[in-house]
Amino acid sequence: MISAILLALGLVSSTRGEVVNVKIDSCPQQEISSFGASGAWWPNDLIHFPVEQQNNLSHWLFSEDGLYLSSYRYNMGGDGGNDTHQVTTNGSRVESFLLRNGTYDWSRDHAGVHFLKEAQNYSVPYVTFFINAAPSHIATNGAACGWNFTANKTDEYADYMTTVLSHWVDHGIDIKYISPMNEPDNNRSDCGQEGMSVVPALRAPIINTLRDSLDNSSASCVGVIADETSRPYLQGIPENPHWLPEAYKCMSNTAVHDYDYVTDDQLAQYYQQVLNLTGGSPPPIKFTEICCSNSSGNGPSAFASQNDPTMTNALIVARYVWQFLTIANAQSFDWWTAVADLPCSPSIDGEQCATAVNNTAGYNSGLIYIDPNYNQTHDYNLYFTKRAFMMKHFAYFHRPGSVRYDVPSTQLPYGVNAFATKNGVYTIKRSAVEERNWAQTWNVLFFNNQSTSFNMTLEAPAAISHLYHVVKTDPSTDWEEVEPRPEITNGVVNFELPAESLYTLQFCAD
Ligand SMILES: *[C@@H]1O[C@H](CO)[C@@H](O)[C@H](O)[C@H]1NC(C)=O
Ligand SMILES: *[C@@H]1O[C@H](CO)[C@@H](O)[C@H](O)[C@H]1NC(C)=O
Ligand SMILES: *[C@@H]1O[C@H](CO)[C@@H](O)[C@H](O)[C@H]1NC(C)=O
Ligand SMILES: *[C@@H]1O[C@H](CO)[C@@H](O)[C@H](O)[C@H]1NC(C)=O
Ligand SMILES: *[C@@H]1O[C@H](CO)[C@@H](O)[C@H](O)[C@H]1NC(C)=O
Ligand SMILES: *[C@@H]1O[C@H](CO)[C@@H](O)[C@H](O)[C@H]1NC(C)=O
Ligand SMILES: *[C@@H]1O[C@H](CO)[C@@H](O)[C@H](O)[C@H]1NC(C)=O
Ligand SMILES: *[C@@H]1O[C@H](CO)[C@@H](O)[C@H](O)[C@H]1NC(C)=O
Ligand SMILES: *[C@@H]1O[C@H](CO)[C@@H](O)[C@H](O)[C@H]1NC(C)=O
Ligand SMILES: *[C@@H]1O[C@H](CO)[C@@H](O)[C@H](O)[C@H]1NC(C)=O
Ligand SMILES: *[C@@H]1O[C@H](CO)[C@@H](O)[C@H](O)[C@H]1NC(C)=O
Ligand SMILES: *[C@@H]1O[C@H](CO)[C@@H](O)[C@H](O)[C@H]1NC(C)=O
Repeated sequence: MISAILLALGLVSSTRGEVVNVKIDSCPQQEISSFGASGAWWPNDLIHFPVEQQNNLSHWLFSEDGLYLSSYRYNMGGDGGNDTHQVTTNGSRVESFLLRNGTYDWSRDHAGVHFLKEAQNYSVPYVTFFINAAPSHIATNGAACGWNFTANKTDEYADYMTTVLSHWVDHGIDIKYISPMNEPDNNRSDCGQEGMSVVPALRAPIINTLRDSLDNSSASCVGVIADETSRPYLQGIPENPHWLPEAYKCMSNTAVHDYDYVTDDQLAQYYQQVLNLTGGSPPPIKFTEICCSNSSGNGPSAFASQNDPTMTNALIVARYVWQFLTIANAQSFDWWTAVADLPCSPSIDGEQCATAVNNTAGYNSGLIYIDPNYNQTHDYNLYFTKRAFMMKHFAYFHRPGSVRYDVPSTQLPYGVNAFATKNGVYTIKRSAVEERNWAQTWNVLFFNNQSTSFNMTLEAPAAISHLYHVVKTDPSTDWEEVEPRPEITNGVVNFELPAESLYTLQFCAD
């Protein structure tokens, strides 16, 4: 029955012993910019960690030895001090550079700025400043949560963003984008986190006024991205007609989250509408946030409590990224946050707190986790999830400026997805001692969300001479070079795609 359905869908139903033959499509698709995560709000905790471990974290996130993230989202805070309401969730208060009384103080948000500077020190290519709420000085309720943006604040708000961006550009931060609103349908009236609502009719004026204001400042190279809608299907489709046509000419990218956990068909409808509303050439999609889906691989996902550090959740997320890259031609992907709290303390509750699935507590919101009770336990370890290594499969190989190619799903078994990119001149290392310059690389990432392995053949791209890296992550290995490395024989590579794995092949041409 199942195989009949798969055959009807045109999918390969591979049984044991059959070989899956794969060829990369020859049509170039979109240019890729970046893969990253945000700096909210863990810097407020990490700043209390030993300095050596803070440095370890920066190295892990940003260096080639670590995840090699190519994007970092800095959260520009809204808390001006002495506000009428403060954000209630511990650790998620973010100091604004603009005090409640209208004075700028550049020493504020010391923790956030520290890791922003670390991202800059590692030359992370795409740094975005994103804003949840205008600061309390501007907000009519004197707080960075629980208000609706009003039209008469547009100029003041654009001035504020221009002042802050110019300051940090002048101080050596290479800011690529500003996102002036985040999930603008939610006013966060519970003050659980910073936020303001911006009704659709006020979005285009903010974007266009900000663009004008930046153009006359030292931050003129910063691009504006919007509107970071939370739900592309349920909010994006009804609201886009009310702001996107008036705003898109001033936007560098269309930024969108995915708390609908859209189906392929819903995403295709969303993207078709964006094309319709922008004369067919939209500012490219930036997929700027997702987290916290709990589906465990079965049935539709929901935003819910769960801590799953295993391959199960990593493969769910990998497919979301693949969906946006292939259906919405997204240029980039940002996971929600780089670091999050465990729901328990490994040194008190046992190591399984960090390694086992917890279906009742915590959130699938981080790449790396910490003990939330570090002040009491003095446990300053960084606990890695499989999602961290998933991000490395995207960020390490598919570098800014590479061009995506399809690996058609019709060639692949159900539950297996893949895509490829081609890079220009590229310096890469295989080990601490072996580093080479290549004229060109091709990178192919397979994800197998099945509990069986598959024997595969992959046709090597034209003009390829070497298979330089073959790296896998599966339930028992994290980012491990496959030994012995498969070889190119008569233009074809034979390899076994392990069960529940991420598997990258990197081809190089001299
Ligand atoms: C893959 O091929 C090897 C060698 O021919 C065989 O032993 C193995 O069973 C095959 N695996 C699958 C999943 O078909
Ligand atoms: C930093 O990382 C190094 C190398 O992994 C490790 O030896 C050291 O213990 C870490 N520092 C802290 C404070 O945990
Ligand atoms: C808050 O108000 C107190 C008392 O007026 C003042 O001393 C303090 O500097 C203010 N803090 C900020 C950040 O404005
Ligand atoms: C927030 O921090 C305060 C003071 O440290 C503590 O009493 C409270 O339990 C914390 N709340 C949560 C939800 O962790
Ligand atoms: C605003 O508050 C800060 C911090 O209290 C203070 O240093 C500054 O002088 C105040 N500025 C004005 C214009 O009141
Ligand atoms: C960044 O690099 C500079 C220059 O090497 C160094 O002084 C600084 O400590 C580094 N880190 C941060 C957070 O500024
Ligand atoms: C925030 O939004 C909710 C739901 O839309 C609404 O009931 C509430 O009045 C809003 N709060 C403010 C302060 O506008
Ligand atoms: C803010 O907007 C929400 C819905 O968008 C509305 O329910 C609420 O009344 C508005 N609040 C104010 C203070 O206008
Ligand atoms: C700004 O607009 C809001 C709502 O549209 C209004 O309540 C307020 O009085 C206006 N403020 C000024 C200074 O005009
Ligand atoms: C896009 O425009 C076409 C042609 O006008 C129309 O048929 C289609 O329904 C539109 N699709 C969406 C999702 O808006
Ligand atoms: C899940 O987390 C809760 C809260 O910390 C804890 O009480 C429970 O033991 C955990 N469950 C598992 C299976 O680790
Ligand atoms: C840890 O202690 C520092 C003060 O030393 C405090 O600022 C911070 O909020 C504490 N963190 C937590 C999670 O309680």
